[in-house]
Amino acid sequence: MTPSLDSEARKRDQEDLEGFELPFFQKLVVLLWALLVSILARLTDLVLVLGRPRLLRPYLGIWLAERLRSPYRARRTFEVVRALRSTGQRFRELIYGETPLMTALWAFRRAGLGADSRLVDLGAGRGRVLIAARWLGAEAVGVELLASHVESVAKWLVPAGITLEQGDAARAELSGATHVFTNWLALTPETKAKLVERFRTCAPGTRFITVAHPIEAEDFVLRSRHRMLFTWGFEFVWIHEYRPG
Ligand SMILES: C[S@@+](CC[C@H](N)C(=O)[O-])C[C@H]1O[C@@H](n2cnc3c(N)ncnc32)[C@H](O)[C@@H]1O
Repeated sequence: MTPSLDSEARKRDQEDLEGFELPFFQKLVVLLWALLVSILARLTDLVLVLGRPRLLRPYLGIWLAERLRSPYRARRTFEVVRALRSTGQRFRELIYGETPLMTALWAFRRAGLGADSRLVDLGAGRGRVLIAARWLGAEAVGVELLASHVESVAKWLVPAGITLEQGDAARAELSGATHVFTNWLALTPETKAKLVERFRTCAPGTRFITVAHPIEAEDFVLRSRHRMLFTWGFEFVWIHEYRPG
């Protein structure tokens, strides 16, 4: 990218982020709500993880990594700029948020995830969703664009049999997946279209769980829709099945 294109990208990113700016009192309410939700989610997560003691260390490890370096404070670092150039995405597409275990477990059960399944999380962040997949005994694989997210939690996830790889979701290996989860709330329509193209490399019958927006393509049949709690508030979760032809 030439310097002028780079400064255009910066300006566009700045404008994108200004679109999320809120007046003081609204911001305060949002922050208090987020605090309440995060306490509630942590408590329910802990109760659930105590039911699977093997997952306690990885869960606490991810939490510790969050306390040491927050994934919620996005910075336009060299790594981030390079990653965005490689995928052609915008900075605002990296906005971070997590799925509480209870939400992921509920959605996964509704989607039929079990011990014989393989769940791939596209845009896996720090891997919280993958813990939920392991809770149900499924194989858990995550693909995350930012190496910093992956590196901060890898040592905690590996012993629990969880694979979290750095890579572009639009190029992820999906051939063995029975279920694909994607929290694609912040992605642009262009990036979502690339993901849907990738979804078509899956076997017929593969289930897709998407957050906030459904898959708008006839070969992905909607099975159900549920309103669920996330770290930033309530969103719809959409469960689809791939039925080509
Ligand atoms: C909203 S977070 C979701 C984290 C996790 N899946 C969860 O629900 O708890 C979305 C993540 O997608 C990642 N992401 C954005 N574009 C991506 C891409 N092209 N390939 C892989 N990850 C991507 C972001 O860096 C961010 O960590």
